Amino acid sequence: MALIVWNETRYGVNIKEIDNQHKQLIDVINHLQASMSEGKGKDVLGKILGNMAQYARGHFATEEKIMKTNGYPGLAEQQKEHEAFTKKALDLKAGFDSGKVSLSIDTMMFLKNWLDDHIANTDRKYSKFLNDKGVV
Ligand SMILES: [Fe+2]
Ligand SMILES: [Fe+2]
Repeated sequence: MALIVWNETRYGVNIKEIDNQHKQLIDVINHLQASMSEGKGKDVLGKILGNMAQYARGHFATEEKIMKTNGYPGLAEQQKEHEAFTKKALDLKAGFDSGKVSLSIDTMMFLKNWLDDHIANTDRKYSKFLNDKGVV
């Protein structure tokens, strides 16, 4: 069973590029969770973890650029949350690669809950503002 399922009502921001990126992020977290529960090896898990961290950074950059261009007033709050997650994801990847950290249910719950909360509560706040500026 997928850990997190995209749905319009909870996650939709009505901006095509962003919705697609959020779907991709959800996919990569689900892929990580499935691979972990299937007992996949360290190499596979490390690679997916790296992909997740990298994809998240790219997504945050896209989002921040759109917010900045359109003068979105919640940019600082977004940057703060993005930065904290990026740091956590990179620490996790480094810890995993060095063998100091193993992936656990708690880690997966953290990733899932962070993404769920950030998209549903922080990202969705910019939806109307940006839509009104013609970003869809
Ligand atoms: Fe986002
Ligand atoms: Fe965001």
